[in-house]
Amino acid sequence: MRTRITELFNIQHPIIQGGMHFVGFAELASAVSNAGGLGIITGLTQRTPDDLAREIARCREMTDKPFGVNLTFLPTVSSPDYPGYIKAIVDGGVRVVETAGNNPEKYLPALHDAGVKVIHKCTSVRHALKAQAIGCDAVSVDGFECGGHPGEDDVPNFILLPRAADELKIPFVASGGMADGRSLVAALALGAEGMNMGTRFIATREAPVHEKVKQAIVAATELDTRLIMRPLRNTERVLRNEAVDRIVEKERALGSAIKFDDIIGEVAGVYPKIMLEGAMDAGAWSCGMVARLVHDIPSVKELIDRIMREAEGIISQRLATMMG
Ligand SMILES: Cc1cc2nc3c(=O)[nH]c(=O)nc-3n(C[C@H](O)[C@H](O)[C@H](O)COP(=O)(O)O)c2cc1C
Repeated sequence: MRTRITELFNIQHPIIQGGMHFVGFAELASAVSNAGGLGIITGLTQRTPDDLAREIARCREMTDKPFGVNLTFLPTVSSPDYPGYIKAIVDGGVRVVETAGNNPEKYLPALHDAGVKVIHKCTSVRHALKAQAIGCDAVSVDGFECGGHPGEDDVPNFILLPRAADELKIPFVASGGMADGRSLVAALALGAEGMNMGTRFIATREAPVHEKVKQAIVAATELDTRLIMRPLRNTERVLRNEAVDRIVEKERALGSAIKFDDIIGEVAGVYPKIMLEGAMDAGAWSCGMVARLVHDIPSVKELIDRIMREAEGIISQRLATMMG
């Protein structure tokens, strides 16, 4: 399948693995790239630019295919050393960066000068147009159903994607709620040039996270996610657990008076405990509603091959037959 996204990133299949904190290590990124998609290392999971440089080198040993690095610009108090991370990316010969969160404009010249393509992940047409205007090469349009930060507009992909298609000139991929060949064909039909997946890729053999995290995704239904931190305008879709129930209760009780400090125990620094140790109630962790469509833990290659086979079947048989 050739789309503007496969051409832009020089990949075989129009499938991207979105950056995921404490999931997007070299093992997963290289597996996705080796299977013909675009794997992405999560930059900020690496404590320092030197650590990121080492992770990039490790990934390079595991694949000779293109892979990317995610740089998330979050509203944190003490800003990470972004110029240092960018230097590690450029020096490591990485050709794709997925930016997310705040406007990446300040960092685009350094990336573009080094020949790096930038795909910005955003949750509204407004922000996608801004990304286009500042010179991003592509966008990843993240609908309300997505795991992680869906923004504050709450527009699901059935509206968001055609709206993006109507407005954007640069190519975009659909993100949020994507799991299988049906998702890919639907995304293409709505105007996207491919899809980005988060939650689905966690439940794969190569994802270097605790088995309990994978099992939790397989067991979850579409009713098991919750939105937290909305009063802080930092909404996150997470899988319900004891910590999330406490957050929801505090948000109900404190209303708009709630402060980050009130929930810090449930959200700060919890990812290593959950992802690496499998402490499933240690805190809140991002997960999409799409968990309900995840029924197994295949290898990344099995997953991607299956998606492409299914998509091709839908297009060349089911849809073609309908056209008589
Ligand atoms: C556990 C987890 C951690 C994530 N961490 C990040 C992150 O650090 N930076 C980022 O830009 N997106 C992050 N995301 C969002 C994903 O890259 C992707 O946009 C999202 O998962 C798509 O929705 P889906 O889960 O329905 O596929 C995370 C998602 C999950 C599930």
